[in-house]
Amino acid sequence: MISYNKALRLLTLDNKRIGYAVYVNDAGYLETVYFGKHLASYADFSCIRDGKGYATPVYDAAAGEEYFYADGFKADVAPLEISPHGVWDKRGAPVIVRGANGSFETDLRFVSVRRIGGCHVPEGLPHVHGEGETADITLEDKQLGVRAHLYLTIFPGQDVIVKSFRIENKGKKAVRLVRAMSMQLGLPRSDYDLVHFCGRWAKERDYCCNRIHDGVQEVSSNLGRSSAEENPFVYLKAADATWDYGEVIGFNLIYSGNFRFRVLHGTYGGLHILYGMNDEDFEWTLAPGAAFETPQAVIAYSAAGVDAMSQAFHRFIRENLMTYAGNCDYKPVLFNSWEGCYFDFDTQLILSYIDDACKLGTELFVLDDGWFGARNSDRAGLGDWTVNREKIDLHRVMAHCRERGVKFGIWFEPEMVNYDSDLFRARPAFALGWGRKELTVGRHQFHLDFANGDAVEEIYRQMKAFLDEYPVDYIKWDYNRTVAEHVSAALPPERQGEVYHRLVLGYYSLLARLTSEYPHTMFEGCASGGGRFDLGTLCYCPQIWCSDESDPAQRIDIQFNTSLGYPLSCIGSHVNDSPVASYSAKAALALFGTYGYEMNPNKLTEGEMAELAAMAQVYRDYHRDVIEAGTLYHLRAPFAGNEMCMQCVSQDRRASLVLFMNKLKTPDKFRFLPLKGLDEKKRYRNTLDGAVHTGEYYANVGLNLSQLWMDEFSYRLIILTEEA
Ligand code: DGJ
Repeated sequence: MISYNKALRLLTLDNKRIGYAVYVNDAGYLETVYFGKHLASYADFSCIRDGKGYATPVYDAAAGEEYFYADGFKADVAPLEISPHGVWDKRGAPVIVRGANGSFETDLRFVSVRRIGGCHVPEGLPHVHGEGETADITLEDKQLGVRAHLYLTIFPGQDVIVKSFRIENKGKKAVRLVRAMSMQLGLPRSDYDLVHFCGRWAKERDYCCNRIHDGVQEVSSNLGRSSAEENPFVYLKAADATWDYGEVIGFNLIYSGNFRFRVLHGTYGGLHILYGMNDEDFEWTLAPGAAFETPQAVIAYSAAGVDAMSQAFHRFIRENLMTYAGNCDYKPVLFNSWEGCYFDFDTQLILSYIDDACKLGTELFVLDDGWFGARNSDRAGLGDWTVNREKIDLHRVMAHCRERGVKFGIWFEPEMVNYDSDLFRARPAFALGWGRKELTVGRHQFHLDFANGDAVEEIYRQMKAFLDEYPVDYIKWDYNRTVAEHVSAALPPERQGEVYHRLVLGYYSLLARLTSEYPHTMFEGCASGGGRFDLGTLCYCPQIWCSDESDPAQRIDIQFNTSLGYPLSCIGSHVNDSPVASYSAKAALALFGTYGYEMNPNKLTEGEMAELAAMAQVYRDYHRDVIEAGTLYHLRAPFAGNEMCMQCVSQDRRASLVLFMNKLKTPDKFRFLPLKGLDEKKRYRNTLDGAVHTGEYYANVGLNLSQLWMDEFSYRLIILTEEA
């Protein structure tokens, strides 16, 4: 898959699906000469270099001469893998190092390249794995005494390239990294739309699509987490691309903190893209001999529209990113106590919840917030992870679950502390920003200073003590505020620029330790709903709670949009008590994510229970093969109209689930819905009208959804199964 032609100085990565080529020019810069569909040959390369007349002249101080590089390198036009900083090219460098002399100049040039079997493992960070091949390109700035490695990884059968840098101080004095992004990419065209997903609490991942315009566009977070305000998943879509036609390039970052995606449409045309950790208030001291690893950036390429890009991410995340041992197994139907009783429960109530939850097909019961310390509201208790025995007898609850054959899970918010807690009273300096006159509180809580290893260790100690006494099957890991004062009492003044990143490293170190020590416990990420929905978290947590908004009015969009970049298997989705839609409509929507419940089950009527139990049966029958492991097609986008439709097809193409939902009421309509992904020759029976047709018929004629009077948030869930 990877080869380097020394004579041409051309590095190629090609897996017969996609191709990537880098030319090492005379000056030692890495020109990205190709990224696209697989090519049969890379022998014939013309890039934008056009001889001397077009090249950037330089002055050789020793020789006293002005000259051009023979291959005609144009410094501020050529698409590069890593632009220098502080020289002619001002489009933006991914890595900026301040040397011992204080200068910002960073000019990393090619030294060598080697091929590594497998993937690069950046220490302390979540990362990709599997049968990839990696090009390890060494670059050096001799004046700075800094070396950089650029890693480019390609995988068999995946339409994905993974990029990252490692920066090493080889000199005798400390240097300061002031920007350490993960990748640069130059594209020779600029007629794209930039799609990103902005939002806020209970309205995460709104679809935003804007034409690339002159100058700079940016998608970023500086909130200390990947955030509900913007998501690290973005894509560029050729202006003429559709769901299944045209070029689409998706980007994501394996990181849960501040990020920055920046695209420049420069005066010469083409795009100059930087992606990685946000450099706002970032500064990292690299002592002699020390190294810094950037998070990995993932780029998915599609020459066949948005869905192929989206499917490339789904496949890649499940096969080469997630590490949970039971990732591909059947996941139990989950019941979560939060929206049913919030903080207001006792043992009896929870036992009654478990009994009723069982009638809905529940296989995993989760006790949410409120079981520990003095936690009877959100004002107290975070940081004190011992069971409140006066409120709840957890051994009894777990025994009750065991007797009913139901698994048990529990809620934590490890990175936070309430000012009303024993932990805070004992160790106030564990609160981030401690020492300031005024500290911002979010939900009456402070962020713990996870840049301080002692704070991480203390939470680990408490969680381990709990887990050893209560062997739970599942943990919901919540995170309910953003970082405000990014000041750590544990770091000296000159290292405060490291705080944001060290908080994320602290999160990963605790999560990595616990998930490896308790490999059979399934962890689900959460952050006030979906405020930390990212690839860093997904490495450890096979699912993430998608949003606190389960009302279909918003939820339809939230789930659909999230699924453009993330597999349905990881999108935490529950049926709740929201009054705008029927239980079965909400359940059908939850089926296109992880399936679960979150309501007061004692209040459900027998009819409602039967409705939900029937949907749980559909989940058991089809979810794993069709929704989790199947291929997802986006048939109707809710951001483009009143209807939403998703279709999943199992890998063996023997079964398919179609969910068609509307928002506002629609009267009778002449409406056919062509399907995708079915085997043209196979015959499938559908549950809409019971008819049997070939895959070819469904693809070209479609399901007949005419004459359906559809009320607000009504739905059709259609199951297609192959006829023997
Ligand atoms: C926010 C989460 O999104 C909810 O699901 C719930 O766990 C609460 N936190 C509990 O405080």
